[in-house]
Amino acid sequence: MSHPRFQDDIIYQIYPRSFKDSDGDGIGDIPGIIAKLPYLKKLGITAIWLSPVFASPMEDMGYDIADYYHIDPLFGSDEDMDELIEKAKKNGIRIIMDMVLNHTSKEHEWFKQAAKDKNSPYRDFYIWRETPNDIGATFGGSAWEYNKATDDYYFHLYAPGQPDLNWDYPPMREALYQACDYWLEKGVYGFRLDVIENIGKEVDRHIIQNGPHLHERLHELNRRTFGKYDGIAIGECWCADHDTRLLYTDPAREELSMVFLFNDWCAFHDREFGKWKCRPFNPKEYRDIIYQRQYSDPAKAWDTLFWNNHDLPRALNRYADLRYRDQAAKMMFASTLFLRGTPFIYQGDELGMVNGRFASVKDFRDIEALNHYQILQDKGMSEAEAKLSLDQTARDNARIPMRWNERKGYGFTSGQPWVDGGKDPGHSVAEEEKDPDSVLHFYRSAIALWKDGRLRDLIRDGAFAPDYLEREEWIAYSRILGGKKLRVIANFSNHVYPLPTIDGPVLLHNYQDESPDFRPYEIYVFLNE
Ligand code: GLC
Repeated sequence: MSHPRFQDDIIYQIYPRSFKDSDGDGIGDIPGIIAKLPYLKKLGITAIWLSPVFASPMEDMGYDIADYYHIDPLFGSDEDMDELIEKAKKNGIRIIMDMVLNHTSKEHEWFKQAAKDKNSPYRDFYIWRETPNDIGATFGGSAWEYNKATDDYYFHLYAPGQPDLNWDYPPMREALYQACDYWLEKGVYGFRLDVIENIGKEVDRHIIQNGPHLHERLHELNRRTFGKYDGIAIGECWCADHDTRLLYTDPAREELSMVFLFNDWCAFHDREFGKWKCRPFNPKEYRDIIYQRQYSDPAKAWDTLFWNNHDLPRALNRYADLRYRDQAAKMMFASTLFLRGTPFIYQGDELGMVNGRFASVKDFRDIEALNHYQILQDKGMSEAEAKLSLDQTARDNARIPMRWNERKGYGFTSGQPWVDGGKDPGHSVAEEEKDPDSVLHFYRSAIALWKDGRLRDLIRDGAFAPDYLEREEWIAYSRILGGKKLRVIANFSNHVYPLPTIDGPVLLHNYQDESPDFRPYEIYVFLNE
């Protein structure tokens, strides 16, 4: 059966600031990534999603792009980027750039011109109104910022330094397509498209996500850019419901390859405080959402399989009893790895990394967390509660340095890391390399199994059938193709259950020994022929 190449990809997300610093300034960079390509090759991944490395004032850590054509000097030079694309390719790894097309930085030349002069050709690249309405910004405050030079307001859904682009204006769209093509011509594989569900917005009608022109714009973006190159496009879509999701991913519509959905994450948000205060995790609720996606028409819905990214605190802290940390890290990865979709690994997942430890509020770096420390108190939390909320939910938790070893600077930097998360003994690449039972070794085996030619068709195309639905704390399912059945049975809890029947050769298991019980966070992956 012919299939798009992204269906055989297993993708690793790098948050460049925190991956590997080559020059001792405490901030990760592109030469650092190049140095670690052998590590990534050994892990077995086929592509890297690189969080933004473009020139930026870094108000939102690079998600505020000031120039789509150049690399920020913090991360290296344009030549370093070329070298990364080239060397990654030699290692069988393609590069996916993170394109922020919903907004730019206010330092972008387009915005600087537009803000100075109402007659600028860039004026309509942005959204201006004389009177602001009551739409709020995601990072707090109003979404409208006053601009003195032109005596009106511009729209910014995120920080004031991130003015939204006006997708209603064709010349603006052309300018973005050119920037996309520039990178595709250089040989990048495609894009992760930041908050792309917002590009059909109609601010006067208070419509932000899923606006009326969203899908025609995605189709145009596809046809004009990555579609011409058989490139991948992964859209970040927080709010897509089931039907909308199929609009994005139905190949006949030529929009996106796949989307990141967060309904499994948002399901546990508090009514009043949203993501800043989550209610306890419940495997059944989680499973119901994930399975729902698997039931969709396989010809139209290709899923993304991920637990973490740079915007979420670590799922291990949120979902598991950390007394069983390594077992849970392995189980979580393998429990969704064999579903229909493209797996994503966020840097450090393969070590079982957990949230950072931040002694004081001053140790957080993220604009969103720092703003919300005050907003949460305005909404009634005490100082201590607001600090606890940041400890549990802030994005900085996922942005602490990658642990290469346990020396000072974590093998990440010879200088002072830009954000720190405290020591975490036993969970660095150097330590885990030495331990055959480590999370790292398990990831390598699991990825090798996922890529194994004998199972590839089954994992990619097999029918999905849930198992043991009566066990509310389990994730159990089969993938079935041509008389072959791959079975996954996972205990997503710290409880002990009777061992289910394992009637076939075991391909993956996360405990070293056997037991008559089904132990906390235990998982079996086996074949039934
Ligand atoms: C996306 C990014 C996030 C950023 C936001 C605004 O959600 O993943 O890091 O802050 O968009 O660009």
